[in-house]
Amino acid sequence: MEVVIVADARSGGDLVAEAVASLIDRRPDALLGVATGSTPAPVYEALAARARSGRVDTKALRIAQLDEYVGLPPEHPESYRAVIRREVLEPLGLDDDAFLGPDGMAADLSEACSAYDRALAAAGGVDLQLLGIGTDGHIGFNEPCSSLASRTRIKTLTRRTRRDNARFFDDDEERVPRHVITQGVGTILEARHLVLFATGEGKAEAVAAAVEGPVSAACPASALQLHPHATIVVDEAAASALTRADYFRQAYAAKPDWQGL
Ligand code: GLP
Repeated sequence: MEVVIVADARSGGDLVAEAVASLIDRRPDALLGVATGSTPAPVYEALAARARSGRVDTKALRIAQLDEYVGLPPEHPESYRAVIRREVLEPLGLDDDAFLGPDGMAADLSEACSAYDRALAAAGGVDLQLLGIGTDGHIGFNEPCSSLASRTRIKTLTRRTRRDNARFFDDDEERVPRHVITQGVGTILEARHLVLFATGEGKAEAVAAAVEGPVSAACPASALQLHPHATIVVDEAAASALTRADYFRQAYAAKPDWQGL
């Protein structure tokens, strides 16, 4: 597991976008797993800027969704499908054909979950999965005590996550759906490269638990410790509870450029 401490959200976004661009150079039709939330916005902005200036060609790129609210139609502006269309697909000039995601409106939700796992496998698997982290250590919508072997399935959100996400629903926690579909922790671990991006002091405790704590379902993000290629990019504030920050800084400073992330 590599921890990269950056000065701020903007430089972190730029670094992660560069890693995505380098993947696309190597594999133009890469399957990029994307996360929602506020944190990845600088990544998507930096990637779109590279696409606009011709520094990366995203026309064959494919995008896979991490999670979705149950019961929000795709036209709802806060459905994750709508968020990804707005923040990722449109800025990169991609249409819905480039997009894979679970159906949060399916009559048979369990089947929709299994169908999504099958679709990811049929697409060749995720090449690089971008992740954020919840204040309670969740990845995707895998709340604490999610099985580390879990597959895509329905989950119930914690009170804390609904409170955290209420800002997207007019600050009304009651309007945040209770149920979601999320790639399981086991599904996420199948991606070839995991890049978790976290910014701000509010994430410091969750980041420290994920990076330096025990591997435990109590902190689903700690499952990244089991992955052979996991990169954690954090700004100074999100790194503030790490006890080994100095080591992480030294290791990154000494890293040869050719290695990339
Ligand atoms: C939601 C998403 C996660 C995301 C988390 C943190 O719960 N399902 O994928 O990582 O929010 O969001 P933010 O980056 O806005 O703090």
